[in-house]
Amino acid sequence: MKASQFFISTLKEAPADAEVISHRLMLRAGFIKRLSAGIYSYMPMGLRVIRKVEAIVRDEMNRAGAVELLMPVVQPAELWQESGRFQKYGPELLRLKDRHERDFVVQPTSEEVITDIARQELRSYRALPKNFYHIQTKFRDERRPRFGVMRGREFTMKDAYSFDRDVACAGLSYQRMYDAYVRIFTRMGLVFRAVAADTGAIGGDRSHEFQVIADTGEDAIVYSPASDYAANIELAEAVPSTTTRPAPNESMRNTPTPGKATCEAVASLLHIPLERTVKSLVLATDEAATAGSGPKTVIWLLLVRGDHALNEVKVGKLPGLDNGFRFATGSEIARAFGCQPGYLGPMVEGRRFKVVADRTVAAMSDFVCGANVPDHHLTGVNWGRDLPEPDLVADIRNVEVGDPAPDGSGPLSIQRGIEVGHVFFLGTKYSEAMKATYLDEGGKPQLLQMGCYGIGITRLLGAAIEQNHDARGMIWPDALAPFSIVLCPIGYDRSDAVRTAADNLYGQLQSLGVDAILDDRGERPGAMFADWELIGVPHRIVLSDRGLKEATVEYQGRRDAGATPVSLAEVRAFVKAKLDA
Ligand SMILES: Nc1ncnc2c1ncn2[C@@H]1O[C@H](COP(=O)(O)OP(=O)(O)O)[C@@H](O)[C@H]1O
Ligand SMILES: [Mg+2]
Repeated sequence: MKASQFFISTLKEAPADAEVISHRLMLRAGFIKRLSAGIYSYMPMGLRVIRKVEAIVRDEMNRAGAVELLMPVVQPAELWQESGRFQKYGPELLRLKDRHERDFVVQPTSEEVITDIARQELRSYRALPKNFYHIQTKFRDERRPRFGVMRGREFTMKDAYSFDRDVACAGLSYQRMYDAYVRIFTRMGLVFRAVAADTGAIGGDRSHEFQVIADTGEDAIVYSPASDYAANIELAEAVPSTTTRPAPNESMRNTPTPGKATCEAVASLLHIPLERTVKSLVLATDEAATAGSGPKTVIWLLLVRGDHALNEVKVGKLPGLDNGFRFATGSEIARAFGCQPGYLGPMVEGRRFKVVADRTVAAMSDFVCGANVPDHHLTGVNWGRDLPEPDLVADIRNVEVGDPAPDGSGPLSIQRGIEVGHVFFLGTKYSEAMKATYLDEGGKPQLLQMGCYGIGITRLLGAAIEQNHDARGMIWPDALAPFSIVLCPIGYDRSDAVRTAADNLYGQLQSLGVDAILDDRGERPGAMFADWELIGVPHRIVLSDRGLKEATVEYQGRRDAGATPVSLAEVRAFVKAKLDA
């Protein structure tokens, strides 16, 4: 490709509203152009990277035995009503009507359509296993689209769906996709981790997210440096360092703590470690009216240690809280505790709420908590002696660095990641709802066992840049780079020698099948180099009159500190070796 024929549009500054580096760099380097919130045009330079991502994904999906098809972006609501998701999906699902007032959706994912295809096409055990995939535009009306292509509303996903005759076979399909994902992200040159993820209502342990490691990632990954344990913090079990409660040592006291409404403030006022305090969070659940009684609201007090954080995903799985919960309102709290937030605790005569204690809190003695009296806390509080035991003891907090690993391998670490892929065992969730069955050897109908497997094609660009950039711009791994190598002739418009040498080398690289771009724009060297460093092409050859007098050109890798002279005679072999490395 010649730069003069291509489209290059770089900016010195990124728009102020771009929050993360990948978003800023993609705008500055002319990879994307914003059309609306979370909706972007993929400009020629960005599209080249997208095509490279897609090619690797296709190649490895095909190698793993998956079959490509293409399902529509606009899908009739009937199928979504059959699965129940037309009602359940919430505002992220873009719903629309056609001219006949019929309901449609813009697909956020394609379980319904593929299950509809499967129930018509996969009629016999002989047709199984089967894995269908497509690379298609998705729309999710995200509440907070942000970080450019990382959390867009319109984006491209590879989604695959496996169909198997039983759970054991579905496990093999799952493993095949897991292995394919490892190959995909390895080939892309990314540092990633496969982590156990929440399975929601489906249950089981067959859900893994593939996370590209980056400090700016939205996900926290808990892992054990001493084993292969890795899980999303949403799921990772927080093992208490002890489960035996020490005997009480102090008597309970009501202590004035004027204006000290947080555990931190109370701990520093009382000169005690934060680990001695207990934090109170108040939730509410609403039960619909039944024949005998009106609607009922239950108030829940959740207790975590002062230095710990509540994990809402874990809370959402507790009995009684698993049908949805919300934070209690000010008046609900006042009614149940007789006090405003800041000084709340479990000590109330005739408790009118349920107490859920984190496992760490249940093993504490002589702790400090709110007194349910404004500007007061209780110290020396002990379960059993001063107040009844909690109604429920459960793991409801996030793992902290240093917590013991659930597999007993030692202390846990935490790093941040960007979810670029997800493999998920679905079981019969969709086949049951949509009556997708096959006939087994005995001619008996059986439900299809399903799995779904996503890769965020466009998100991968953002993730790769978050992981690979410096002050000058992007640094593409070879496998994803928009161009493998750029030829930068200095004075292409003025010097015959430079132009001839550059055109020759470009022609030679082309005949070798190298994806090279020749910058024939006649830009000044400073501006030209800055453009290609911003765009992040991993290899660069500079041709100048000075070098050519000695029959040399200069090579510099995007991460190299300086340039290396290479003789003209050897440059072809040199470049080839660099690109094959
Ligand atoms: N809003 C989005 N913008 C870009 N990519 C997305 C978005 N939502 C999901 N993806 C990508 O699609 C993949 C599969 O999505 P899925 O696991 O169904 O989404 P979620 O984790 O949001 O439920 C994700 O791993 C991610 O890489
Ligand atoms: Mg996911």
